[in-house]
Order: sequence, then C-alpha cells, then structure tokens
Amino acid sequence: MLKIENLQVEIDGQEIVKGLDLEVGKGEIHAIMGPNGSGKSTLANVLMGHPRYEVTGGSVTFQGEDVFELEPDERAKLGMFLAFQYPSEVPGVSVANFLRTAVNSVREEELSPMEMYRLIQEKMSIMQMDPKFAERYLNEGFSGGEKKRNEILQMLMLEPKLAIMDETDSGLDIDALQVVAKGVNELRGPEFSAVIITHYQRILRYIEPDHVHVMLDGRIVTSGGKELALELEDKGYEWVRQEFGAGTQS
Ligand SMILES: Nc1ncnc2c1ncn2[C@@H]1O[C@H](COP(=O)(O)OP(=O)(O)OP(=O)(O)O)[C@@H](O)[C@H]1O
Ligand SMILES: [Mg+2]
Repeated sequence: MLKIENLQVEIDGQEIVKGLDLEVGKGEIHAIMGPNGSGKSTLANVLMGHPRYEVTGGSVTFQGEDVFELEPDERAKLGMFLAFQYPSEVPGVSVANFLRTAVNSVREEELSPMEMYRLIQEKMSIMQMDPKFAERYLNEGFSGGEKKRNEILQMLMLEPKLAIMDETDSGLDIDALQVVAKGVNELRGPEFSAVIITHYQRILRYIEPDHVHVMLDGRIVTSGGKELALELEDKGYEWVRQEFGAGTQS
C-alpha cells in the first residue's frame, strides 16, 4: 500500500527526516509515536504534498505509484487522506460545502444533492455531531475536539484507502476519543490502512494497531507490536534515546 524508503526531508535547508523507512500493508493499522520535534508531522505533511517541505532523498510509493510525481489532489484521488494535527479554519466555506467539493472531486461520478445530504447526515450521526455543524464555516470557532471530530467526518465521507492521522486524539475528552475511534473502526477492513501518529497509548486501546513504531530524530528507531506502546508509556523517551539515540546505533 505505502512504501517509504530512506526518506529524507528538509525545511529551510534543515534536515528533519533523516532516512526513514516504513512499509504499510493493505488493511494494516500502524501507530507512530515519538518525542516532540522528532519529525512526525513533517512526515505526514510531506506524504500529502505540503509545498514547504523539500524531499532531498529516498522514495515513497503508494500502490506502486511514485507519490512525489503526483500533485496533492491526485494523491487524494488515489485514496490518500491526512487528518491534520492543527486543522485550518476556512471562514466563508461551510462544512457541507467543503465536504461536497471534496467528495465530488475524488469520485468518478458526482453525487446528487440529495445523496450528498443523506451521506453527510449519516456520517455526522456516526460522529455524533450536531447537524447544525454542516452549515457552520469550516473549523471557524470550533473547539479543539470539534475540529478533530470534523477531520474524521471528512475521512468517513472520503473513504480513503490510506489515512494518516496526525494526533487526532490530542485534546479529546474521553467520549470524543471513543467517537473518533469508532469513526476509524468504521472504515477498518482489508481495503483500509492507517498510520496513526499519537503521543498516547490510550487511543490504541480503542484502535488496535498491528504495528507500533518509534520515531526519534527523523528516523524510525524501533518497531514492535502494540505492547511497545505500553512499554514506551512505562519507560519514557529517555529510555528510547539511551537505547536508540545518536551514537548508540547506526
Ligand atoms: N516550517 C518549519 N520551519 C522550520 N522548522 C520547522 C518547520 N516545520 C517543522 N520544523 C521543525 O522540524 C522539527 C520536526 O517538527 P515536526 O512538527 O515534524 O515534529 P513532530 O514530531 O510532529 O512533533 P510534535 O510531537 O510536537 O507534534 C521541529 O524541530 C520543528 O521545529
Ligand atoms: Mg506533530
């Protein structure tokens, strides 16, 4: 599904991702954990084609296609989706309008207004969102948790093949966390893969990952099963730095 080999990424001439390898198979859920500033969001953003980042080495393929040869909208059309760590506010564009445009742009055939309306209602109800949100401007004045819920709503509408979720669980109350997990589990199946970037083991109780990776200083330094997330919570990143930090391992 997704294959990242020796990926190197720079921002303003500074190397942030320093030779990262990751393979995500069909239907697999991967979690990436790692300290602040280790390059997790950089990885997510570069996969979706954020113009700020410069890829200086390595390769990324999605279903065998060179991701960096594709424009961001082409990536979305192929089924890649990113839920942002900090979703942007878009005054003047309602949630419903945004969803209509986004969904129709990835579909072969446009949905009729009635079909679209029903789909939005259905997915909003899964996310336990008040239907009034459909008419509000995208993310404008949304609380942190409402923004995150809205990201998952977009994901449910778009039905991506690969979702990258950048700290979608941060700032959620316990109920919202379960709703977000429900949204993800709704899509879970052989045709859906996900990369969940998180700081907390908590969400992984609701969305069981097949693999857990630890990112440190621009690389994945160790990987394991879901027990690795528990071990991390227990031992902290100082343990990771000592075991896998620069100088201890090539
Ligand atoms: N636009 C930018 N300009 C300069 N430096 C940047 C920029 N974007 C990211 N960086 C730097 O790259 C490093 C990695 O940032 P990134 O956001 O990828 O980390 P992260 O692992 O997502 O951290 P967090 O857990 O805090 O979200 C940081 O040191 C950050 O300051
Ligand atoms: Mg981040």
